[in-house]
Parts: sequence; C-alpha cells; structure tokens
Amino acid sequence: MKKKITIIGAGNVGATAAHWALVRNLGNIVLLDVMEGIPQGKALDLWQSGPLDSYSGTVTGSNDYADSADSDVVIITAGLARKPGMSRDDLLAKNVAIVKSCAEQAVKYSPNCFMIVVTNPIDAMVHTAFKVSGLDKSRIIGMAGVLDSARYRTFLADAVGVAPADVNALVMGIHGDKMLPMVRLANVGGVPITDLLSKEKIAEIVLRTQTGGIEIVNHLKTGSAFYTPGLAAVEMAEAVLNDGNRVMACAAYLEGEFGISGYFLGVPVVLGDSGVKRIIEFELTEEEKAALAGSVEAVAKQMEATGL
Ligand code: LAC
Repeated sequence: MKKKITIIGAGNVGATAAHWALVRNLGNIVLLDVMEGIPQGKALDLWQSGPLDSYSGTVTGSNDYADSADSDVVIITAGLARKPGMSRDDLLAKNVAIVKSCAEQAVKYSPNCFMIVVTNPIDAMVHTAFKVSGLDKSRIIGMAGVLDSARYRTFLADAVGVAPADVNALVMGIHGDKMLPMVRLANVGGVPITDLLSKEKIAEIVLRTQTGGIEIVNHLKTGSAFYTPGLAAVEMAEAVLNDGNRVMACAAYLEGEFGISGYFLGVPVVLGDSGVKRIIEFELTEEEKAALAGSVEAVAKQMEATGL
C-alpha cells in the first residue's frame, strides 16, 4: 500500500514540498490549508503532472483534516513567513497558535504519524507541536539543519570549485543567527576545508550561512525561501518512509545529549523507519560548547514566549 503524506499549509513551502514528494514517489499526498480553493487548485495542477514524468502518487487538496486520516508523515508548513526587517522570533506569537491547532488536529486523525515541523521559529514550533501532540520524541522532528547545512555546503562548494554533493558539512544549534556552522568538521571529499580555504573566506561563508534566510527575504521582499526548505522537509520524510538511516542535522528533543536537556535543537541524527533512531553525539571543543550555549539561550527565550 502506498504511504500517505499530509502537508499542512499550501503556501510556497507546502506546495514545493508536495511537488518534491510527488517527484520522489513518496506516496499519496494530501495538501491541506484553511484557505478554500488554494490547496485544491495546487493539488490538481500537481497531480496532472504525473503522466509527463511517471509519478505514481495522487495529490489531493483539502480544507478538512478528516482527509489527512492515517497519514504516515505529516509536514507542518502553515504559518506566517518573514518580510524584510523581521526576525524569525517576530513570527512567534501568531505561528504558535497556528502550529498548535495544526498539530492537535493532525494527530487526532493520524495518531501514529511522524511529524516534521517547518514553520518558524522552527525550534520553538517543533517543541510546541511536541507538547500539544503527545507524540513520542522520536516521532517529531524540526526541519532546519538540513536547510542550513545545504546552504553552507553550497557556499563552500562554490568557493572551492567542486560539486556541492562532495562537500560534507554540518550546521548545529538554533535555526537563527546563533546557528553553528561547524568549521572543524566540514570537508570536501574527506579533505578538511581549513586546508582548502583561508580563515577569512571561511568566516565569510559562516556568516553568509547564518544569515542565509534573511538574504533571500531581502531579495523577495514579500516572503521567505521555499525551494530548499520544501526539499529539505521531503528529504527528511523520505529517510523516514524508506528507512534510509540517513544522517541529517535536525531539530531533535534533547535529554542530556551535548549536555542539553528539555529543548529541541539542531543536532546530527539518524533518521529511519522509527523516526529519530538516535542522536549522534560527539565531543565539542570549548568554543563550540560556548556557541551552542548561545543557541540554547535563544531557544529558551523563544519557548518562554510561547507560554507553554
Ligand atoms: C529560511 C527560513 C525558512 O531560513 O527560515 O529561509
């Protein structure tokens, strides 16, 4: 039987995720939104692309959570996006109410789903969904590290002049300015980037990664990135649905790992058919520990603001 993936929010990120889920043949897709007509129209358009490239899944648009029943994976993208001058934290008050309602309704109809949260500020929104859904911590994951690591790898690959896929790099911590693009671990085909790029160039790339989201918001003016965020969510869903055992940076619930407890934060995890199979813990340098502590502080502030 085909798997079922519900994507909540038929905006740019949700529709892009639906497109990739269809292209990658992940299963049958439900695109859900409160806006009447939008999910139906986009779903119909996507579904009709099937014959042109042999996609076998269906895409259904809906305003009714009953249509999401028994989903294997639920991806939450609903919420407001940033405009120039806004930080991700500025979205918190409005998006917390939206994500609460989405998670509650989704889990009512799909109590055994895996939930991937994309709505910003991601680390606090995934925690909100965790609290209201009652899902086990292994079943609920925030998308952020996959996107931030993709940005980091893109900039590094461009600077070295190699294929992006040959750059291995990890971004940990919050999905915000205090994220931690790991320099010591980044490599090109196994060769450390510190041997290939100057300190100055690496610092420039680290900063560009940390501000990668706002760079796009400032260009678009009316919203934020969606191509890579949409694909990043699908990459995570695919790892779960296909038991990929993929190692990805995701916002996972920490209970002592890296000395942090009680928060979702970007860390390397193994993603497979039981969701977060494990968090890959490793020794951080003192400098990295201090940087990660900055992320924890920022997430703690966000969580306080959610009032949960
Ligand atoms: C970004 C949004 C998704 O970083 O936060 O582009």
